[in-house]
Amino acid sequence: MNNRVEGKVSITAQGTCLGRTVSYYEKDINYKSNDYIAPILVPSYLGLLAKYGFSRKILKKQFLKAPGNYEYLIARTKFIDSIFENIDDSIEQVLIFGAGFDSRAIRFKSKLAKATVFELDAPGTQQIKIDRFRGQHIEFPENLKFISIDFNHESLSKKLEETGFEKNKKCLFLLEGLTMYLNQESIDNTFNLVDNYSGENSLIVFDYVSASMVSREKTYNDPKIRQYYEFLAKVGEKPRFAIDGQIQDFLANYNLLLLDELDSTRLAKKYFNKDDFGLIAQKFRIVMAKK
Ligand SMILES: C[S@@+](CC[C@H](N)C(=O)[O-])C[C@H]1O[C@@H](n2cnc3c(N)ncnc32)[C@H](O)[C@@H]1O
Repeated sequence: MNNRVEGKVSITAQGTCLGRTVSYYEKDINYKSNDYIAPILVPSYLGLLAKYGFSRKILKKQFLKAPGNYEYLIARTKFIDSIFENIDDSIEQVLIFGAGFDSRAIRFKSKLAKATVFELDAPGTQQIKIDRFRGQHIEFPENLKFISIDFNHESLSKKLEETGFEKNKKCLFLLEGLTMYLNQESIDNTFNLVDNYSGENSLIVFDYVSASMVSREKTYNDPKIRQYYEFLAKVGEKPRFAIDGQIQDFLANYNLLLLDELDSTRLAKKYFNKDDFGLIAQKFRIVMAKK
């Protein structure tokens, strides 16, 4: 049974939040990222274990064992944080799809002061997030609006219109760790919405898995990777969407123009200063595109 359908909290959203918590306490500058809110959002015993080198190692062994996924998460966090650090006042609406425990609306509050921020997520996960923030007496900025939605079964445009989203404004869309969990129809709905509802020069940042790299991964038959997929299937969050071929062709379907695409090699060089092929899981790509 699917956790999201059951209204439970997403396991993968909790996993990425734990990854950012562990990374926040890392001493190695390459491994350290700056989501200072993540440690508050994980169960307190995990936050405590992440603080100390010895127990951090155990946490990583226990929870972050799919090869290269932890390094990918760190690089992705840093890359997207840098986009928010450099956001300018021309962005009028920021939409964070599948937000999970994303804390950027708070961490980059002053950068986002002139924009309206929409966080969209499955109801179970979104409610737990709201409760955790309230439980920690963390205030939400006034310009933050929550939209609970199942992308695979509900109308995105209707939900947005009901919540005050305005068409044709310059937007930043973020889909971090999301596309792989959507079906083809909701991918089309989401990317068509970017095309039809946002203003010129709107930006979209998303990551995806490369279909050819997933097939290659299968031929390696690595037991750790197999266990990781078995675990995702068990908790009802099996990845189901991958992109085949050139990203430019995918983007062209929605009239979007590629600005940048980072694969594992570029991410390893940029964030770990390493040429090491394989440090970061090779199936992931991060894309920035504009309307
Ligand atoms: C891997 S987590 C990523 C969370 C967050 N963006 C991050 O990077 O930490 C995937 C997120 O997508 C959301 N999600 C997946 N499928 C969804 C669907 N069909 N409808 C709504 N949300 C969905 C989950 O609830 C979860 O928060």
